[in-house]
Amino acid sequence: MAEEHPLKPFYSVLVLAFACSALVAAAAVGLRPLQDANRSLDQKKNILAAAGIYQINKPVAEQFESIEARIIELGSGKFVDPGKIDPASFNQLATALSDNSGKELDKSIDIAGIRRLENYSLVYLVKKNEKVDEIVLPVRGKGLWSTLYAYVAIDADLNTVRGVSFYQHGETPGLGGEVSNPRWQKSWQDKKLFSPQGQLQFDVVKSGTQVSPENAIYRVDGLSGATLTTQGVDRLMRFWFGQHGFQPFFEEVRKQGGFNG
Ligand SMILES: Cc1cc2nc3c(=O)[nH]c(=O)nc-3n(C[C@H](O)[C@H](O)[C@H](O)COP(=O)(O)O)c2cc1C
Repeated sequence: MAEEHPLKPFYSVLVLAFACSALVAAAAVGLRPLQDANRSLDQKKNILAAAGIYQINKPVAEQFESIEARIIELGSGKFVDPGKIDPASFNQLATALSDNSGKELDKSIDIAGIRRLENYSLVYLVKKNEKVDEIVLPVRGKGLWSTLYAYVAIDADLNTVRGVSFYQHGETPGLGGEVSNPRWQKSWQDKKLFSPQGQLQFDVVKSGTQVSPENAIYRVDGLSGATLTTQGVDRLMRFWFGQHGFQPFFEEVRKQGGFNG
């Protein structure tokens, strides 16, 4: 009987390992378009949810037809021509990380703990009867353990919160993780961002804080047992609705007489 080559088992394992890794790589590459499509679908659902118009039994694409995605330059607050930056393929986080289109934030400015800020942001214009009814804005900031990502819907009056959707975070379930509790998110509805003098007054306060009736319209009660996450949410709102966030955009829209002016 011919003797088996001593390296034969080694070659067999090598061939098997190579075949398996090729299979895994092919699956990863092949499934990427599906993963991207699912991610995009999920984002759209969260935008619709923040705007308070998500219907579970209607195709998301159909519901999203009333929403126009646009790019703005955060510094000037002006809309960017879709021919220059296409909103459909715009990656906001990658933009923040790029040296050409993002910048490092000074610690004194970076109250949301995001480290880098993009020069451009997506904004979603939610239309009703051909007019902008509300806008949905992407925000993010550090909680206790993680960066929290959310969409905030603001009425076309640029002051009234219509809804919020925290869609990604790594806070503790039952504590900071309650940011994604629909009941808590509902408590944001109809709160005001700015005083009649235009000062940012919106505040997410420690759970159970006594609030005077005249300030109640600006206050969201924080998450009980999760004061640190609550403070993170408060700071991210202050950042994104302040001068380094969407304030120049709001000023620009007001200068044009509003969205439908
Ligand atoms: C395992 C563990 C997980 C926690 N997760 C959170 C969290 O996600 N968010 C948060 O604000 N506090 C969290 N805390 C609580 C904080 O350590 C801290 O006690 C709390 O934020 C203070 O809030 P309080 O003043 O409302 O009690 C956690 C504590 C422990 C022990």
